[in-house]
Amino acid sequence: MVPVKKEFVDSMFSVKGKVTLVTGATGALGSVLSKAYGYAGAKVFMTGRNEAKLKALEEEFKAEGIDCAYYVADPAVEEQVDGLVKACVDQYGGVDILAVAHGYNKPQPILEQSVADWQYIMDADCKSVYIVLKYVAQQMVNQGRGGKIVVVTSQRSKRGMAGYTGYCTSKGGADLMVSSLACELSAAHGINVNSLCPTVFRSDLTEWMFDPESAVYQNFLKREPIGRLAEPEDFVGYALFLSSDASNYITGANCDCSGGYLTC
Ligand SMILES: NC(=O)c1ccc[n+]([C@@H]2O[C@H](COP(=O)([O-])OP(=O)(O)OC[C@H]3O[C@@H](n4cnc5c(N)ncnc54)[C@H](OP(=O)(O)O)[C@@H]3O)[C@@H](O)[C@H]2O)c1
Repeated sequence: MVPVKKEFVDSMFSVKGKVTLVTGATGALGSVLSKAYGYAGAKVFMTGRNEAKLKALEEEFKAEGIDCAYYVADPAVEEQVDGLVKACVDQYGGVDILAVAHGYNKPQPILEQSVADWQYIMDADCKSVYIVLKYVAQQMVNQGRGGKIVVVTSQRSKRGMAGYTGYCTSKGGADLMVSSLACELSAAHGINVNSLCPTVFRSDLTEWMFDPESAVYQNFLKREPIGRLAEPEDFVGYALFLSSDASNYITGANCDCSGGYLTC
C-alpha cells in the first residue's frame, strides 16, 4: 500500500480555523497576507502601530465575512508585545500561526549615518523580530500543539548593498534567528520556523521603481528571470504553504521567493 493518505492530501494546505497573528498588518504585504489568511478561513489577529489603518482593515475584512480583530503595538517594545500576545489569547484562545511582516529601512552610507539611526533600523527589523518570536513561541509552547512561524525578511539578508548596513545586517540576523529557533523549537515543540526572502515588491515605498521606462526597473528585469517585479499577492501561496501541514518537514529555511533573482 502506498503510504500517503487521501485525507492528508485533501487538507494539507488548509489553515481553516487557525489563529493567525500578523505583524505589520497595516503594510503592503501584511495587509494582503492578513486578508488572504482570512479568505482561507483563519482567524486573523492583526497588529501594527497605526490604529486608524488597523481599524479600517478590520472593517473591510469583517464586511467580507472574515473573522478578525486587531491590537495596537510596536513590535520592538517588549511590554507591548506581551500585551499583544495576551490580547490574541483573550480574543481567540491562542496562537497557531505567526506571520511577521513589519519592517523599516532608511538607507544611508555609514559615513553619514548616526549610530542612533543604525540602531533604530536594527531595533525595527531585528530586535523586534526577536521579541515577537520570543513571546509567541512561549505561547505556542504553553499550548503544546506546535505552530507555524513565517518571518518576512529579504533577499538583502544574503547580500550587501551600499547604504544598507542597517537593513542587510538586520535581515541577515533575522534569517539566522529563524534557523537558530528551528533548532530550539521544532523537534522539542513541533514549531516550524521559516523565513520568506523576497526581492522588490510593490508598496508605497517602492512604487517609484515600477515605472517600466525607468533605468531602475530595466536593471531589475535583467536580474529577474520571471520577467517582472513582484506584487504582494505573489507571496500569499508561499506564506499559506509555510503555515499549513504541507510544509511540516520544512523548518529553519530561508525561502527564496525572488522570481529567480539568485539564478543569474
Ligand atoms: N517592499 C519590498 O520591496 C520589500 C522587499 C523585500 C523585503 N521586504 C520586507 O517585507 C516586509 C513587508 O514590507 P512592506 O513593503 O509590506 O512594508 P510596508 O508597506 O512599508 O509596511 C511595513 C509595516 O511595518 C510597520 N513598520 C514600519 N516602520 C516600523 C518600525 N520602525 N517599527 C515597527 N514597525 C514598523 C508599519 O506598520 P505600523 O506603522 O502600523 O506599525 C508598516 O505598515 C518588511 O519586513 C520589508 O522589510 C519588502
